[in-house]
Amino acid sequence: MTTVPEFRPSGRLELTWTNKNQKLLSHEDGSYEWTVPGDYRTSEVRLLHDVTTVGETHNSAHRAKDNLLIRGDALHALTSLTQLPEFAQHYVGKVKLVYIDPPFNRGQAFVHYDDALEHSVWLTMMRDRLEQIETLLADDGSIWLHLDDVESHRARLVLDEVFGPKNFVAEIAWRSTDSSSNNAKGFAKDHNSIMIYSKMPKWRPKHLPDPAKSGHYSNPDNNPRGPWYDGRDVQNPKLRPNLMYDVVSPSGNVIKHPKNGWRWERETLEAKLASGELFFNENETAIKRISFLWEQDGLPPSDIWFNVGETGSSRGAKNHLKNLFPGVLTPDLFDTPKPEQLMRKIIELSTEPGDLVLDCFAGSGTTAAAAHKMGRRWATVEWQHSTIETYTMPRLAKVIEGTDPGGITETTAVESLGDLPDDVTAASAKAALGVLDKLLEHGTFDDLALLQSVKKYGTFVANPKRHALPSDELTQLTDREILKTVFSALRKAGKTRNVATKNWSGGGGFRVLDVGPSMFEVEDRQVLLAHWAAGDALGEAVAGQYGFAYLKESPFCGRKGKQRLAVIDGLVNDPVVDFLLDWLDEGDLLVAFGTGIDPESANRLAELRRGSTLKKIPQSIVSSYRRTKRRSTGLNWASPSLQAQGADV
Ligand SMILES: C[S@@+](CC[C@H](N)C(=O)[O-])C[C@H]1O[C@@H](n2cnc3c(N)ncnc32)[C@H](O)[C@@H]1O
Repeated sequence: MTTVPEFRPSGRLELTWTNKNQKLLSHEDGSYEWTVPGDYRTSEVRLLHDVTTVGETHNSAHRAKDNLLIRGDALHALTSLTQLPEFAQHYVGKVKLVYIDPPFNRGQAFVHYDDALEHSVWLTMMRDRLEQIETLLADDGSIWLHLDDVESHRARLVLDEVFGPKNFVAEIAWRSTDSSSNNAKGFAKDHNSIMIYSKMPKWRPKHLPDPAKSGHYSNPDNNPRGPWYDGRDVQNPKLRPNLMYDVVSPSGNVIKHPKNGWRWERETLEAKLASGELFFNENETAIKRISFLWEQDGLPPSDIWFNVGETGSSRGAKNHLKNLFPGVLTPDLFDTPKPEQLMRKIIELSTEPGDLVLDCFAGSGTTAAAAHKMGRRWATVEWQHSTIETYTMPRLAKVIEGTDPGGITETTAVESLGDLPDDVTAASAKAALGVLDKLLEHGTFDDLALLQSVKKYGTFVANPKRHALPSDELTQLTDREILKTVFSALRKAGKTRNVATKNWSGGGGFRVLDVGPSMFEVEDRQVLLAHWAAGDALGEAVAGQYGFAYLKESPFCGRKGKQRLAVIDGLVNDPVVDFLLDWLDEGDLLVAFGTGIDPESANRLAELRRGSTLKKIPQSIVSSYRRTKRRSTGLNWASPSLQAQGADV
């Protein structure tokens, strides 16, 4: 008798590609080299060196709290943010939004960067960076990956692998063109894909204002809290006998409760009257309720964004850059900027003011510019020096200086009201004045009645939240004085003019950092410690301080009995420990110093070679070494305010 063999499932749903289990090393010239896992050059952590600051920043001891423009490869920068303790405490699990717009791999060579990688190289490059991004994302954070149809189907599977298919949120089709090309072969390409994944499955985007509801809302008096509506119900939806009480208006009218009773206890209702959320109608025969549009539940966003007026277009983004940099000739213009309007929508849907936004393929710096104007903190990374010098850096400096008029910077006309409080508008003052004039013309009111009318019609007295005169001051004045004050205030308001104001006029700042060079060099296929990393002066200082005879035998620089000294200007972690142990003779002990150390690697070293230790170089030695090694950044700063301020290596 034969039995059916037990079926054992094997394998998993995944995309495979050539060299998927290998690593890529990026080079300064923008090329990538395949390496095997464990190559010290791909597992090292680069230091981040200060270059300059623009605008207001923290002192360099707290530089991780600044907005950051990092010059270097995205993977190196992300690894540094993840692993250098100084940055890790502010970045790991803290980033609310990652938006990336990497090269789409369209097989083109743009003026400022190449966009033609072999698919396996592109996929590995993306996978390695997405893995670091996953570590940086907050539990309530999301990543938005912007591509077109060349790689989006493959990228989606890589995103599944790194973030988990359960964390897929949506794929947005964004209309990137403002008019279709008539010369297209086949289909005109009019959209890009933006794939959204979250760190946790419960992530939801915020809702957008509901146009159906917003129809009721308007802002005839330019209320600083935005459009409002005063027709919301004050009646309880259920029959509530305990909320059936009468309210007496300021002029003594008794207002009966609505049929079902009020929505609130008497105390709450009175507090709402005092705060201005509730107010008496003109005749003091009813109580009205004001609500603002922003307080209302909105609608979930659609996954098709085709409204060029709302999210801008590629052409619009290029025009914005053209206006920002009139000296740059059109053929040299950065090829693939995205509109700030698109970023505004993404940032609005996924973050609150103060949240941290990251973009490690900065290009012209759109994400950082929009995030800054919207009060978010940001970090952005770009590796092409020419792009940084010509666009990213000067553009962000203009944002800080308030001299970037385009993108989401909007200019609106508002009323200037002299000495009057901000929330009294010329329109409301004029309307109230008109009513007062009519009452005076009518001539049948005595002062007290007129004052009551002011309370009714002027609304600003009865409703201190939306209008001026504080009521406690009011009670100390005579009726005549009140009238005089009101008239003169209204006249003044009536004379005011419209002035232009901008929603962004500068402020804040950022810090520029460089990804440090590799600690390793390859010579005759041998991986060696780079000369700078085992800096002679640093090694000599540490050797002197700790009683080692200074002896250059790379990668070591000192000896004390069986102890060999290694001094590394960088983070000493597992790969660096392994590298040093490879060179250590049997029976010798390792004493390794680093400008940064991974505490777990210290424990591991103690286990691997008993008596060996890993230590951090004292800050005093590092500082004096750095002072002697200052180097020029070589950047052409676009404005005087960009001159390096205390650049540190
Ligand atoms: C499509 S552009 C980004 C455009 C940007 N969203 C904007 O609005 O200007 C892609 C950018 O990524 C940069 N880049 C490509 N590979 C990179 C890497 N490994 N590290 C850092 N930047 C990289 C390119 O130099 C290019 O500036």
